[in-house]
Amino acid sequence: MIVADLYANLEADLAYVEEQLRIQLRSKESVLEDAAVHLLNAGGKRLRPVFVLLAGTFGQYDRERLAHVAVGLELIHMATLVHDDVIDNADTRRGMPTVKARFDNRTAMYTGDFIFARALSALSNIEDPRVHRTLATAIERMCLGEIEQIRDLFSLEQSIRTYLLRIRRKTALLMEMSCALGALAAGAPAHIVSAVRRYGYYTGMAFQITDDVLDFTSTEERLGKPVGSDLRQGNLTAPVLFALRNAKPGHGLRELIARRGSFGDMRQAVQMVSHSSGIKDAMDLADRYLVKAHEGLACLPPTPTRTSLAALATFVGKRDH
Ligand code: IPE
Ligand code: IPE
Ligand code: MG
Ligand code: MG
Ligand code: MG
Repeated sequence: MIVADLYANLEADLAYVEEQLRIQLRSKESVLEDAAVHLLNAGGKRLRPVFVLLAGTFGQYDRERLAHVAVGLELIHMATLVHDDVIDNADTRRGMPTVKARFDNRTAMYTGDFIFARALSALSNIEDPRVHRTLATAIERMCLGEIEQIRDLFSLEQSIRTYLLRIRRKTALLMEMSCALGALAAGAPAHIVSAVRRYGYYTGMAFQITDDVLDFTSTEERLGKPVGSDLRQGNLTAPVLFALRNAKPGHGLRELIARRGSFGDMRQAVQMVSHSSGIKDAMDLADRYLVKAHEGLACLPPTPTRTSLAALATFVGKRDH
């Protein structure tokens, strides 16, 4: 199965989610609505809704109920993107100008908050307090991940473990939650909830590692967002940490980063990492997470959804956008 088939199978339910996303973003305040809808219209993969809907098939599949969760999760994701583009000073997202570029930083901060509020509104349709408690903790930990990233900028002391903890918090957790809450909202048994949650964790880790590799290997045209900017801004991701580990003395990468150099210096550092064995090492690390994601699927019943989840994990490893 390929990932296009998976989207085709979910087409009607994803269209319903899309409609609900649009309804949630309506506002009397036209700037907030315009800015939020600008990001919505720009597209995106809608991976978190896909995880929710797929996980929901392991219980009582109720489209409306699952859509509340799917919309909530996609809106939390979108809110973090709007804020992330302010923090990362990014001018493009989903192939369009970012909210901060199209409007300004201040508008972007409130647009993020507005989208976040609407996520809460969508989720308020779910009466299970476990859903809200789990999400509240997850969001707190996502903030922690981003704060840790700021703390670790340019830090040559950090280990791969530090990096992994950081990306678990900032990215994997929301994917983990999308899977777990889809199953939970559908009333799936506890062992299924934890199995899909584990799958979301492994897939989410591979997803962010791949995102960090693509920052070195892809183009702005293909990704729809800036490339090369992680290292330029001092965010030392897996390819950099592996390149540093593999570098022979006098290689120069460590020194360039330590100098927190000029734009030209950092561009040279990006080139060094792009041509280093750090890229392959990072891809291998993502693959190891994907193997675990695939292995974990054995705990789930052999339904068509299990095949779809396997296809999604494969897509994450091979994606170019
Ligand atoms: C981008 O996520 C942010 C990361 C966690 C790397 P996606 O790549 O899922 O973004 P969209 O929703 O498809 O634009
Ligand atoms: C993901 O990290 C951050 C979020 C969880 C929003 P990035 O900063 O690498 O995401 P992109 O590359 O801008 O999408
Ligand atoms: Mg970021
Ligand atoms: Mg970013
Ligand atoms: Mg990135």
